[in-house]
This record gives sequence, structure tokens and C-alpha cells, in this order.
Amino acid sequence: MRIFNRQSELSTYLQSVAQHRRIGFVPTMGALHEGHLSLLKRAMQENDITVISIFVNPTQFNNPEDLKNYPRTLERDVEKIGQLSDDIIVFAPETDDIYQGKTVSESFNFDGLENQMEGKFRAGHFDGVATIVKRLFEIVQPQNAYFGEKDFQQLQIVRRLVEKYSLPVNIIGCPVFREDSGLAMSSRNERLTESERKNASLIFKTLNAAKKRFGKQSAKQVAKWVESVFGKHPEFKLEYFQIADEATLEPIVRKNKKKRYRAFIAVFVGKIRLIDTIALN
Ligand code: PAJ
Repeated sequence: MRIFNRQSELSTYLQSVAQHRRIGFVPTMGALHEGHLSLLKRAMQENDITVISIFVNPTQFNNPEDLKNYPRTLERDVEKIGQLSDDIIVFAPETDDIYQGKTVSESFNFDGLENQMEGKFRAGHFDGVATIVKRLFEIVQPQNAYFGEKDFQQLQIVRRLVEKYSLPVNIIGCPVFREDSGLAMSSRNERLTESERKNASLIFKTLNAAKKRFGKQSAKQVAKWVESVFGKHPEFKLEYFQIADEATLEPIVRKNKKKRYRAFIAVFVGKIRLIDTIALN
């Protein structure tokens, strides 16, 4: 396995091996779990060269505590990657190599996609995400890049980024990978206590039930019901539950059979903020 810490070295290496070969790219912030590995497996199947980046991107954190506490487990991550294949290229840069002493985001306009849900509750988050994703694409120059539907808003924003800047990369969305309990895999799950982790299965259970209700009830009724479920469980604090149009991410006004809808949720379990999503139709 090859591990690069500097973008110049990675670029030089990729230029020397990439001619007429497809590069598949999986950007991550590390603390790898089966969800990340499912993206990596897909990239390996569909490309000649697979690159994974592991970089806890400071500009996308609006909460310094969250950035400080974000798990950093490079050695273990490299071990997990090695168990999949010896051929995967790992890019694990330091902040300075990426930001050159200026650790700030560029500003983007994603036609309102960035103002919904996560954008509303995490100011500046998507400017940070777009800044790092654009830079990583410039460094790696992949044909295909893999993103999880777990972060569906991020996926749509990356698609819009690619359109707006005519970046020569296909964005491939991958299904949410879940624990047996239904809880969406997340690096943050590691910070839950055993009982919190058990309780957190309520999130996906509720999303599934909301999906069923959405067949018969209005979005408003469904949202009210979801709020009442979490209201009965003091170990949770619901931040938002939103049913939105998949394409625009705008909250649903009236059901339209031609549109695709998705439910989005952010909820605190103790101190840990978890998100999840489910397609509704
Ligand atoms: P991170 O949270 O590490 O996630 C890396 C990729 O793995 C994202 O595309 C995310 O959607 C996907 N992923 C996470 N959990 C998943 C799950 N349970 N099932 C399927 N895919 C899952 O998202 C980021 O990092 C960062 O914002 C990044 C894009 C790397 C930019 O810094």
C-alpha cells in the first residue's frame, strides 16, 4: 500500500501511473467503518486505481469542540484498508499541506441547496466541504468519486459543485450502510455509550415508520408524529425532521406524484449529533 502525506508527491505519482487508467476516489475524514469500506469496495470494482483520502477538514466544522473530539485513528484506518487490498492509495495530508497556512473556506453558491437542513444548523459547513472536495478533485483528478447517501445533502451539493465548475468527474451516490440494529454507520457512533448506541436504533425505526405514514398522511402530520416519538424519549433531542424534494432539498409543500421525496433527520443522542435519511417514494 502506498501512503502519501503531501499533495505534490501524490500528484507526481498519479501522473506517472494513471495514463489511460480510471481513477476512483473516496474522500473521507477517517475513523473508517463498514460504511466507508462499502464505498471503497465499489470504487475498486469500477476503476483501475483507487485512492482514499483521510483528512479531518477543519473548515467544515462549525463547532471547535466537535473538531477537537473528532476521532483520529490513522493507524487503524490503514490496517482496515490493507485488509481490503494492497493496491489502494492512501492520501493523508496535514492541514498545512492542503491549506498552505490559510485555513479558510471559499464561498460558494449552490442555488439554495446549502441553506436547508445541515446548512441551517451548521453555518459555513458546506463552504468547508466544497472547498476541500474541490481541492481534492484537483489533486487526485479522478474519473469517478464516491459519496454516501447518508450525507444526502452533501452528495447533492457535490453534484452541483461539479456542474457549476464543469469538473471532469462522475459523482456516484452509494446507499446508507447500517449496523444490524438499523443505526446508520458513522464515525460518531464510536462516541456513544453502549446504551446510547442501543437506543439510537430508534432513529431508523422512526424513519421507516414515517415512510409508511407518508403513504397515507400529510407531511405535516408525519412530522408531528416524529416529534411526538422523540418527545417521549428524553435521551434524544430532535434538532430537525424534514421531508424535502430530493432534487431541490426544499421542504415539501404539497405532495406531487412526479417528485421524489426524502425524509431527513438530525438528532442528539446525549452529546452526540447523528443524522440519517430515507427515500420516501
Ligand atoms: P466522512 O464523514 O468521513 O464520510 C466519508 C464518506 O463516507 C461520505 O461520502 C459519507 O457520506 C460516506 N459515509 C459515511 N457513513 C456512511 C454510511 N453509513 N453508509 C454509506 N456511506 C457513508 O463526509 C465526509 O467525511 C466529509 O464531509 C468529506 C466529504 C470527506 C469532506 O471532508
